[in-house]
Amino acid sequence: MMTDFGFLGPAQTVFGRGSRHRAFSYAAEHATRVIIVRGNSASWGADLKSELEAVSGDALEVLTQGEPTIAHLQAALEKCRPFQPECVVAVGGGSAIDLGKALAALVPSEGDPLDHLEIVGRGLPIIHDPLPLVAVPTTSGTGAEATKNAVIAIPERGLKVSLRESRMIPRLAVVDPALTDGAPKALTLATGLDALTQLMESYLSVRANPITDALCRDGIPSGIFALNRLMSEDDPTARDSMALVSYLSGLALANSGLGVVHGLAAVIGGRCGAAHGAICGRLLSSALEVNERAVRRAGQNTGRFAQVDAWLADGFGSGMGSGYQSLRRFVDDQGLPTLAALGCNRDDYEAIAEDALNASSTKANPVPLNLWEVVEIIDQA
Ligand SMILES: [Fe+2]
Repeated sequence: MMTDFGFLGPAQTVFGRGSRHRAFSYAAEHATRVIIVRGNSASWGADLKSELEAVSGDALEVLTQGEPTIAHLQAALEKCRPFQPECVVAVGGGSAIDLGKALAALVPSEGDPLDHLEIVGRGLPIIHDPLPLVAVPTTSGTGAEATKNAVIAIPERGLKVSLRESRMIPRLAVVDPALTDGAPKALTLATGLDALTQLMESYLSVRANPITDALCRDGIPSGIFALNRLMSEDDPTARDSMALVSYLSGLALANSGLGVVHGLAAVIGGRCGAAHGAICGRLLSSALEVNERAVRRAGQNTGRFAQVDAWLADGFGSGMGSGYQSLRRFVDDQGLPTLAALGCNRDDYEAIAEDALNASSTKANPVPLNLWEVVEIIDQA
């Protein structure tokens, strides 16, 4: 018997080289006052501001400074609320899109972000409808243009938590792969590994459904090939594939949830402030091994793990004996920083594992893990 499920995605998506101009036409048609959230390097966001002003719209720019913290969000809200915006356009990596998502959700309400944050705040529902959000990713990794949560860091407490609400999903996702051309290799690697982790965790999640399965079965093998290709050459076709794979990974995770890798990444990222994609890429192969063993021990079917292993062996080469080992060799060969280099201290493994077991992403892990299994994942990574 098939399990019941629902599916949520952006109301509209446009994909293609040059499609960035759809962000301009949407904002110009739907709003006279627009907030543009962008990273410093997302220079096209500045062009967008002049284009909107040229058609007599008014645009207010918010620049991101890395992953949004609660203090950034509070300051940005103070700046944006008096402007009375009607639309938010976020251009950049996951950080810019997450900040845009949080602003779109909270500008219409009066309160403080802490009222609505999970874990650290009161977790109150967001009553007022969020402003329409146009999300324009400039990296292929987080898939934030298709998800319903914004990750906010609380540096004083070494935590990363989510503001989460179905209506926070972008109204329009504009995926223009040309915006990712020429991205540095290290960034392409870390963000690409994030997208692959998101697809694999969605595929193995306890909440996987027939639609997320279809997205993952298409995205995982093409993502492995495209990422491998981009490590040797900046190939536009592979950039197109990775942009699509990243979008698919966001759609999948928004509907199926993730697993222990993202549970750990939230905790490690909060403690060390290190890049999310690199942490995921480091943890992925050992998490696959430990999870497969735990699923087998629980007497459940491991067919999906065998499929993931086969895709990895196919894309990264099977000379290492297993696809998981090929993935490990790939991240080593490409120079992905180790957890130690990312600032993760061996003395903290047990405390990290304990916090990761309570993280929201871990709840969708294929099978519950014990503390020592989570420590083993970190240790092997
Ligand atoms: Fe991720």
